[in-house]
Amino acid sequence: DWTMEAFKDKEVARIRKLVGEKAQVIGAVSGGVDSTVAAKLMQEAVGARFHAVMVDNGVLRKNEAKQVKETLTRGLGVNLTVVDASDRFLDRLQGVADPEKKRIIIGNTFIEIFEEEAKRIAKEAESTPHAGPVEWFLQGTLYPDVIESISFRGPSQTIKTHHNVGGLPEKMKLKLIEPLRELFKDEVRAMGREMGIPPDLVGRHPFPGPGLAIRILGDVTREKVRVVQEADLIFIEEIRKAGVYDEISQAFAALSGDRAVGVVGDQRLHGYLVFLRAVRTTDFMTATAYEFPAGVLARIVNRIGNEVEGVARVLYEVTSKPPSTIEFE
Ligand code: XMP
Repeated sequence: DWTMEAFKDKEVARIRKLVGEKAQVIGAVSGGVDSTVAAKLMQEAVGARFHAVMVDNGVLRKNEAKQVKETLTRGLGVNLTVVDASDRFLDRLQGVADPEKKRIIIGNTFIEIFEEEAKRIAKEAESTPHAGPVEWFLQGTLYPDVIESISFRGPSQTIKTHHNVGGLPEKMKLKLIEPLRELFKDEVRAMGREMGIPPDLVGRHPFPGPGLAIRILGDVTREKVRVVQEADLIFIEEIRKAGVYDEISQAFAALSGDRAVGVVGDQRLHGYLVFLRAVRTTDFMTATAYEFPAGVLARIVNRIGNEVEGVARVLYEVTSKPPSTIEFE
């Protein structure tokens, strides 16, 4: 009968046979549960012949790249390279306000960097006697993603994290390997727990591929990235402290494109307007705003006002999806 452990063992054996004794595998990781479980499976199957790459695009959450490096390398033994490409992304995003343009810039830049990394890995493999050529490309595609990609969804929903690498395997003449394509999210989480992936990571809310760029309304600047990173960190920290993280499907801070009037000391301040959003949903097609226990929101808003420089106002959004979306753009 079907158990997660049996599935995992079978999958590891299947991957080993498929990849063989010499070939190398590359794959992108984001720090999310899907790519982490896929990476861990691959590591168990082929060890250091799996090369994971994480691209720091400059619009990740605060400390994210460092934490992912720590968890995957030291915690899980995955052979991971973190590429700090934040300047390249942020320079290209400069002055761009249209959310779809931001998505395209980020997607294209990601592909460009990943191609460079794949070439570097292939070259390094050439000079290693026991290593064969790079032949495989790992993708953490889930069963719902397989279904979604053949049914119609709205414009922002057609672009999901794993599609950031769309077209890349073909372009690089790599064969695709998708160990999670028969699984649902809760099964991937169960497998993650089974594999010893830290519970915090296994239960993590989804995070969009274009990251904070689509949570900064209007043009993206380094200063705005700082504000939204700091506000988001406090928001999530307090949600965890209140013990309600797992009741919420997705929660985040975003930055309005407008400024707001506030006051610091006895001075009026033309400061930032921070939005907070926390929703409950099962399928991410519809969602309702989360109702926080008494006192939690006040504490969060207080901390953001006191600790994040330049913030004048903090608003909690309570619109359902529809008519709203989960993200702001
Ligand atoms: P919306 O805003 O469409 O979000 O209600 C539904 C879910 O999709 C995520 N989302 C994205 N994920 N790239 C991604 O990888 C995107 O461009 C993107 N836009 C939205 C969103 O975070 C939510 O989980």
